[in-house]
Amino acid sequence: MCGIVGSVSTKTNIIPILLDGLKTLEYRGYDSAGLSYLKNSKLIINKVKGRVKELEKNIEKDAFSNIGIAHTRWATHGEVNETNAHPHNVGNITIVHNGIIENFSKLKHKLEEKGYKFKSSSDTEIAAGLLDYYYKKYENIDKTIQKFMKKVDGSYAICMMINNIPNTIYVIKKDSPLIIGTNKNTSYIASDVPAILKYTKNYYILEDYEYGKITANNITIYDKEGNILNKQLKEYQGSTLTSDKGIYEHYMLKEIMEQKTTIRKTINPYINNIDDLLKLPDLTKYERIDIIACGTAMHAGLAAKYLFEEYTNTKCEVFLASEYRYQNNFLNNKVLSIFISQSGETADTLAALKKVKENKCDTLGIVNVKESSIARILDKVLYTEAGTEIAVASTKAYTAQVALLSVLILAHAYRKKSIKEEKILKILEEFRAVTSILNPILEGTKTYENIAKEIYEKSDVFYIGRGLDYALAMEGSLKLKEISYIHSEAYAAGELKHGTISLITKNTPVFASATNKKINTKTISNLKEVTSRGAKCYLITDEDIQDNSFEILKIKKVSMFLKPLLTIIPYQLIAYYTAKFKNCDIDKPRNLAKSVTVE
Ligand code: AGP
Repeated sequence: MCGIVGSVSTKTNIIPILLDGLKTLEYRGYDSAGLSYLKNSKLIINKVKGRVKELEKNIEKDAFSNIGIAHTRWATHGEVNETNAHPHNVGNITIVHNGIIENFSKLKHKLEEKGYKFKSSSDTEIAAGLLDYYYKKYENIDKTIQKFMKKVDGSYAICMMINNIPNTIYVIKKDSPLIIGTNKNTSYIASDVPAILKYTKNYYILEDYEYGKITANNITIYDKEGNILNKQLKEYQGSTLTSDKGIYEHYMLKEIMEQKTTIRKTINPYINNIDDLLKLPDLTKYERIDIIACGTAMHAGLAAKYLFEEYTNTKCEVFLASEYRYQNNFLNNKVLSIFISQSGETADTLAALKKVKENKCDTLGIVNVKESSIARILDKVLYTEAGTEIAVASTKAYTAQVALLSVLILAHAYRKKSIKEEKILKILEEFRAVTSILNPILEGTKTYENIAKEIYEKSDVFYIGRGLDYALAMEGSLKLKEISYIHSEAYAAGELKHGTISLITKNTPVFASATNKKINTKTISNLKEVTSRGAKCYLITDEDIQDNSFEILKIKKVSMFLKPLLTIIPYQLIAYYTAKFKNCDIDKPRNLAKSVTVE
């Protein structure tokens, strides 16, 4: 989604602060960028279609200001162009906004009846118009903001400058994240902490329906009635944003290679012995486990579903958060709802979580960003230790999620005695060796680069699998689509012949994984069905299969609790090299954002 930044200082030039913040937040959304600042009381607005580096070219080189706001956009309303880029100014009000104003068309109509004219098709401009209207009507900024919050439906994190209130930025928050940083003589505002880490580690978190008045040396935060709140000043504990790719050409490749350490770091507290394993939450009182997430995080949930049901005999359902939030969820106190989110800010996942909380049912989270909106309202949180994931396509966060879920399920199996202790000890031993287990696959990049060269000009690619392997097919397919823009579908291996096999033609690439000896022969038969129709097949397996009708990608034999961690890496690397051959923007694919904080 979008990134917002603001800063006000007594004497520091805040324009570099705004640009630094935008560069850090750009992974959240990068369709357009803009900033506005006051120069000798004159409002300056620069905005461009394109990246922050384009914006920098537009700013006068000796630009100096002590107050400003900035924005990097992932378009929700209105096409990607300069007019729709933020900041938006209407009358006395200039704002940047992350979120969606859901009733913007009704508000726009009412404001136009009062004589307002709008230039853009952005909902944010309407928000600026509404604030300007109330400010002119009440001549009181507190009343203006309180009225705005009552009138507007949707999500917003807003930074606002007001022409006749110098040296002050106002912020308003509902559903979209917003933090306020502070150090001597300068205040900072951002969508999340990494954007201001270069300047301070101390910050306040705004909650829904709170607003703030920020000057260089003073931060006042109010509730929706205008009562001053005594907020706790926090100190950032997360990993600092590594702003370099090191030896790698793209963050995505760096993050793929980091997995052998990030997986180990994530599960390290739980795998040294049974006592450590039992530090994980006791799930035995629950009769059903619901897993709710989006995208790749949901795919991690699918892998967990297989393990929960196969190895602990616990019913597990996986839901897309965007569907779950509008469904009947059959909740009761025997159901545990697990929410998986790398960013901890995904709007659909957050909304689904709030629904479970309203039903007073138990929640557990698997989250990568500490103090994120989702993490803050969960009953319990298990943090993945993947570090900041910059590439929009999730890799190390996914494997950290799967690994953490696997050890959680292993602990559950121990408590339910559904796996013998000696077997559990053996699996823990494998987890302790995960780095050396993953190394050979991560070092075999040439194999995957060669496969990528075979497929990068194709228009359709299929991924198939059964059970746990179907969950991996889903993730493998998404990786390819996200960064190479090649159409791809994941299919249950046994289902392809019920229609979709009609799409298989000569040399259509079909990927499969067969890592469950109980059903591998079935998957092999499905591969035969497609090779007989001309498909070019690639099979990831830990079995010794002699068959030269498809290319075999061999992985080491490990327990089912680790198999997803091995199987997914070839898929990640094939997607990466395919996108590379296509000269795609691998870390910032078109139309995407790292954290989707709108519905
Ligand atoms: C994965 O590569 C995508 N970036 C996307 O599917 C992502 O997993 C999804 O938006 C969920 O994000 P979250 O984990 O931050 O909630």
